[in-house]
Amino acid sequence: MELYHVLNASQFDRNSLDYICDLVNCIRRISKNKEGSLWLKDLLSNKYAMLYFVQPSTRTFLSFANACDRLGMINYEIRDNRTSSELKGETPEDTVRTFSSYVDMIIMRYPQKGFCDDIAKLLDRTDRSVPVINAGSGSDQHPTQSLLDIYTLVRSFKNRDGIDNKTIVMVGDLLRGRTVRSLSHLMRNYNDVRLIYVAPEEFQIDENMHSFLKEHNINYELEYELEKVVSTADAVYMTRIQDEYGFDESDFEEERNGFIHTKSGIKGRTKEEIGVKLKERLQKKYEKFHFKPEYLRLMKTDSAILHPLPRRNELPASVDSDIRAKYWRQERNGMWVRTALIACILDVDSYIFDYHKRYYS
Ligand code: NCD
Repeated sequence: MELYHVLNASQFDRNSLDYICDLVNCIRRISKNKEGSLWLKDLLSNKYAMLYFVQPSTRTFLSFANACDRLGMINYEIRDNRTSSELKGETPEDTVRTFSSYVDMIIMRYPQKGFCDDIAKLLDRTDRSVPVINAGSGSDQHPTQSLLDIYTLVRSFKNRDGIDNKTIVMVGDLLRGRTVRSLSHLMRNYNDVRLIYVAPEEFQIDENMHSFLKEHNINYELEYELEKVVSTADAVYMTRIQDEYGFDESDFEEERNGFIHTKSGIKGRTKEEIGVKLKERLQKKYEKFHFKPEYLRLMKTDSAILHPLPRRNELPASVDSDIRAKYWRQERNGMWVRTALIACILDVDSYIFDYHKRYYS
């Protein structure tokens, strides 16, 4: 499959999604024994990758590092730009361009929307372009997460004709959650999917998402209480509130008598105090968007619960042992999907299919 930069979920069509899922299955099967694993490890043993992750990450970082290792690719990392020459005033553009002098692929997580795209364009104008993978661009996109979400859904519905015709409920911070945005973009590739977005009013999907869904004739609804829709779901996709992106500064009003008063009726001496009170208030408000253990009784017996993780109190650990809880598998699937993606980008996908055909068909 032709694939170079991976920047945005909307670049994947149904054929490419099916292709990646098939490749993942082959890789998993080949990896089951030592001989197969060693064969995979030789595929990209002449290649190098840079992991540039300057926003926090546990599983995306580790699964990419692991995916590189599984294909034998050597990888380097920068996880904090205070340890790079950016501290000396080098621009992020020059920093990333520097990586392209040493490696064959750049995998990056960066807080600013659009930066990955700009870097890809910049590198394409140089005589040493290398593929760029977006591993999370602020609150905007997380295309590789959406691929592993699709793979997990496909696996969850493997005896139910896949994702077509399913009702998928997405819950939480749908405004700033990049995983929901990217996953929703991929839903245009499936037939008769019904999406239900459950979020507090202030974190509901944005105008761009409404336009996208309408443009692609995707059947969707907004809802404000998980309990109401949990029984209709084939899959519930939980997310956490993304409070690292802060609360709305425009809520502040002028000081009066030594207190700051917000438009939403919170009073405090400092912005920090207001922040804490706002968080407490929202926490209470968010309870309708938490998955309560009693919902397990309401859910269909063959449904699936997903979460990109990390989770907080929106999904209690007591749900983990339910057969429908797929999020730990989803996390591991990330490693396989990223292995497949790297294999496609660096053109060893057809060798994998051939090997699989030779030894396993
Ligand atoms: C997500 C992310 O970073 O956007 N995590 C992940 O990559 N698995 C979700 C989140 O941080 O809430």
